[in-house]
Amino acid sequence: MADADTEGAKNYRAEIPQKSEPFFLKGSNELDWGLKNRLANIFSPNSGRTVMLAFDHGYFLGPTSGLERIDLDIVPLTPYADTLMLTRGILRTTIPPTYTGGIVLRASGGPSILKELSDEEIALSVDEAVRLNAAAMAVQVFIGGEHETRSVHNMTRLVDAGNRNGIATLAVTAVGRDMARDAKYMRLATRICAELGATYVKTYYVEDGFDTVAAGCPVPIVIAGGKKIPEEDALELAHHAVQEGAAGVDMGRNIFQAECPVAMIQAVRKVVHEDLAPSQAYELYQTLKSEG
Ligand code: 5RP
Repeated sequence: MADADTEGAKNYRAEIPQKSEPFFLKGSNELDWGLKNRLANIFSPNSGRTVMLAFDHGYFLGPTSGLERIDLDIVPLTPYADTLMLTRGILRTTIPPTYTGGIVLRASGGPSILKELSDEEIALSVDEAVRLNAAAMAVQVFIGGEHETRSVHNMTRLVDAGNRNGIATLAVTAVGRDMARDAKYMRLATRICAELGATYVKTYYVEDGFDTVAAGCPVPIVIAGGKKIPEEDALELAHHAVQEGAAGVDMGRNIFQAECPVAMIQAVRKVVHEDLAPSQAYELYQTLKSEG
């Protein structure tokens, strides 16, 4: 029998007020405990930022360059990522369940690269996200695209289901082939996603005015790496993004298509989490690369 004598309990330290600390992520303080706990597995509570490794490209591209053998080329990078962004197919078949970082599951899809890309539907149930222990579900939102309204509604349906289950929703602002990638467009797209409930938003870095994109979005923004560029330039890109208000990167090709991906992800981490200057991060990249 448990001891029912509460008379002995005296260690209340009534003079010490209980701490009530704000959650470290922008716009996330009012979320429920489970959602915050999952976000703390995406973003580092120390730096407030994340290095997400994106390799979900196959959901519309098939086996793209650098992702032919995820088991051989991507799994070795996972210890250096705060979070993996991937499809459930790759998660189940290829990622060891011993991985304990955040999992962000691709949750929209449908058309291949051969078709109109904005024609996506929801492609993941929240039950499946729970079963796979996902921290977030990622959905493309095509502002200005042919199927803009449907893609926004895909997002809001995932937000509703995610909030019921304590799972975050990452809105990925997808820029159509003929659309301008400027700050005005990014402000529009990111703000719409946040207003309609996205927990955080992924967008592209723009050179002129990214700080206004980040400031105008009431939830954290992570930037996509985009097309492969020289390693030094990709480190510059990550540096500018975080210095101008991004809460990290969701980088794919500029890591896994780098000459030495395992060195590149470590250099990106230094820029994102430790504010290392891009020139020093590039030196680190070269040193790690030469060490093989
Ligand atoms: C696909 C995505 C990808 O995850 C993202 O674009 C990958 O990152 P990168 O552009 O750095 O290769 O959202 O639509």
